[in-house]
Amino acid sequence: RKDDLTTIVVFGASGDLAKKKTFPALFHLYVSNLLPLHSRIFGYARSNLSREDFEARVTANIGKTPEERAKIPGFLKICDYIQGQYDKGEDFRRLLENIVKQERVMTADIYSDYENAVINKRNKRVFYLALPPSQFVSVASQIKQNAYDPKHVNRLVIEKPFGNDSESSHQLSEDIGKLFSEDEVYRIDHYLGKEMVKNILALRFANVFYQAVWNKEHIANIQIVFKETIGTEGRGGYFDNVGIIRDVIQNHLLQVLSIVAMEEPSSLKSEDIRDQKTEVLKKIKPIGLDQVLLGQYTKSADGSKPGYKDDAGVPENSNTPTFAEMVLEIDNDRWRGVPWVIKAGKALDNAKVLIRIQFKERSGDMFPDLARNELVVQVSPEEAIYMKTLVKEPGLSTNLTISELDLTYRSRFEGIKIPDAYSTLILDVLNGDHSNFVRADELEEAWRIVTPLLHQIDSGKVEPLPYPYGSRGPEGVDEFPELRAGYKVPEIDYHWSPDSPV
Ligand code: BG6
Repeated sequence: RKDDLTTIVVFGASGDLAKKKTFPALFHLYVSNLLPLHSRIFGYARSNLSREDFEARVTANIGKTPEERAKIPGFLKICDYIQGQYDKGEDFRRLLENIVKQERVMTADIYSDYENAVINKRNKRVFYLALPPSQFVSVASQIKQNAYDPKHVNRLVIEKPFGNDSESSHQLSEDIGKLFSEDEVYRIDHYLGKEMVKNILALRFANVFYQAVWNKEHIANIQIVFKETIGTEGRGGYFDNVGIIRDVIQNHLLQVLSIVAMEEPSSLKSEDIRDQKTEVLKKIKPIGLDQVLLGQYTKSADGSKPGYKDDAGVPENSNTPTFAEMVLEIDNDRWRGVPWVIKAGKALDNAKVLIRIQFKERSGDMFPDLARNELVVQVSPEEAIYMKTLVKEPGLSTNLTISELDLTYRSRFEGIKIPDAYSTLILDVLNGDHSNFVRADELEEAWRIVTPLLHQIDSGKVEPLPYPYGSRGPEGVDEFPELRAGYKVPEIDYHWSPDSPV
């Protein structure tokens, strides 16, 4: 609402996440006139930054066009930097003084009476923790003691990793839960802010034909694929304690799965959506080692790219997987018997994130079964939805061929700029919409599914298979969906650019 007063505090303002994602997203909202009219942004960090240093960080990744650059001075006017420790009450009280000072200035613009505006809960304070999780509880507790005011609307934004396994994640949720109510907490999973992930809901529940076939009667198998061409490249020290399962499967890909699989929520309200997503996760058994193919990349075939273990900080005997392919089932009436394959890896032959839904053969003898229909939702690099469809070969031939009903966003929605995931998620925080954030119980279920497997890997007894940097993955990667999930490759040659093999 235009008369809301909004203060956003970005903790970790001197760090990478703030520079690359948080400030650019806030700027994007500002230039799109989506920040509330009366907004102030505080960067907070330990570093002793001069005003120039701070501005250099805020603007490092913004202002790509002349129009945007023209808006930078206005944006900087609403940004301030506060230097402080993450565990010192007096620093947080100084932060509070500054917040209140600015709130009073903003109030003077619209209300005659600050106290009254506060009582009417028109003041919003958003605390965005762009910090490593080891700081979450300390900072959240300082905020609670010193900068939290129940007369205001208070929101706490945090980002993964939320723990390392079921137990540590549960502990973190409990610690945060003692300080902030679930309603005040926004756990970011940036995949939930991606255009095509947000689109799944519309695709499934606004179209009668998808709704009709979205079940085990018609769907043979589903693959959720995440491929990156880059390796850990200098992040090896961090990644070695994480591995591909914690990095993207436990969070991003299980979130995507839960939206593709969930029952229709009774409304678009966030709790209705999150209830249904949680129900899906509850119906998945913990993944066993026998359901998984694990890999770790080695030097590229030509020797030009380093292996995972060449990365600084990765121990010589590391068994951390940089690739995982797994098959799982959802034990409910809609999906019983349908295999779901999740594949994720770094240092592979191409970069793609997509959901591939393969339908069963049609029944009847009229046409040979040359190929199954497939619906593909491509999340990146380019947003697209296409349905592999059998048609008559054009011309005098009566043969069948596979073609595609193609909705590639770039050509269909020309000139549309798809917002970065962080912009849409921060806007949701400002609007108090939780639908695209992970609830504590969802998080717990997702950890339950992968924790036993992670513990087995952590124990050092499991050896991932090697695969060369830039390859399709370890031996068996392509056979996996066929052998484990009954995925059928078309009998006729099919080549179309977005559908190069994943
Ligand atoms: C992050 C992971 O959460 O997601 C990274 O930590 C990964 O390892 C990234 O590269 C992928 O996000 P995106 O938006 O580039 O697909």
